[in-house]
Amino acid sequence: MGCAVKIALDGEIFELEEATLAVSERGFLYGDGIFETIRLYGGRAFGAERHLSRMTRSAKFLSLPEPNPDLFTIAEELSRLNGHHDGAARITLTRGNAAAPLRPDQSAAKPTTLVTTRALPPGLEATQHDGVPGRTLPYPLRAEGLALQNHKTINYLPSLLALRDVPAGETPIIETTGGNLSEAATSNLFWVKERTLYTPSLSMGALPGIARELVIELAAEASVEVCEVAKTKSALLNADEAFLTNSIIEVTPLTSLDGEEIATGVPGPLTRLLQELWHKKVVKDIGGYGSPGSKD
Ligand SMILES: Cc1ncc(COP(=O)(O)O)c(C=O)c1O
Repeated sequence: MGCAVKIALDGEIFELEEATLAVSERGFLYGDGIFETIRLYGGRAFGAERHLSRMTRSAKFLSLPEPNPDLFTIAEELSRLNGHHDGAARITLTRGNAAAPLRPDQSAAKPTTLVTTRALPPGLEATQHDGVPGRTLPYPLRAEGLALQNHKTINYLPSLLALRDVPAGETPIIETTGGNLSEAATSNLFWVKERTLYTPSLSMGALPGIARELVIELAAEASVEVCEVAKTKSALLNADEAFLTNSIIEVTPLTSLDGEEIATGVPGPLTRLLQELWHKKVVKDIGGYGSPGSKD
């Protein structure tokens, strides 16, 4: 493995410092694009079909060109080139270089695709084990029933603002204008009450997370009832346990909210069960959880 980090721009591999984008790139000018963040285990993209199908749905919704499945193969190849076998890949797809006309259906742009990989965040195993504290924001960042919120667009300012406005080390918990729970800044939210699993419904502005989808399936397979709901933060404060999900953090316990412990503040049994079921699913789909290749 060389030292320089490689990326893939429009299907061609470059060293990071050598790749450039045009100033008329619509992703840069207007946030006119979508992205996926994918977890790699042993150099294999986990849940690639689910990510591709979410990206395709969003591309259709926004009249963007549909993503080529090869982008996922490129992500796997890059992860090996960069030594990020057990890491994360990001696939970004924008409408390309055409500042005008503004109307997307009249733009003659050809899409730009960018694939990058990175290592997992430091301390991930410890936070998966111990959990993270949550903090609601003093303002809403989602409204109910807005379709655009259900797409993973490159307009990431709400999440960035949320991250800025909670103390370091805490996870922002986002509410709607109606005072209901929506999700976290970069993950979906779940809680458990009397053996039933709850999560905010997508109409609360939550992203249809790949990890959310998988956890709902794993819970159903384990005969745990799952309810998608509109609930305020008191439901979370009265929960028996709570956790967050995304493709990178998998299932990570949420141990407190606004300084108050959730139940005893210790990760609960259903959280632990779902962590275990996730692990088994990776072994089943990928053939292992991590690989010797990751030490390259
Ligand atoms: C706002 C938001 N919600 C939820 C998620 C979880 O999505 P996924 O499970 O697909 O990683 C993300 C992922 O980055 C996110 O940015």
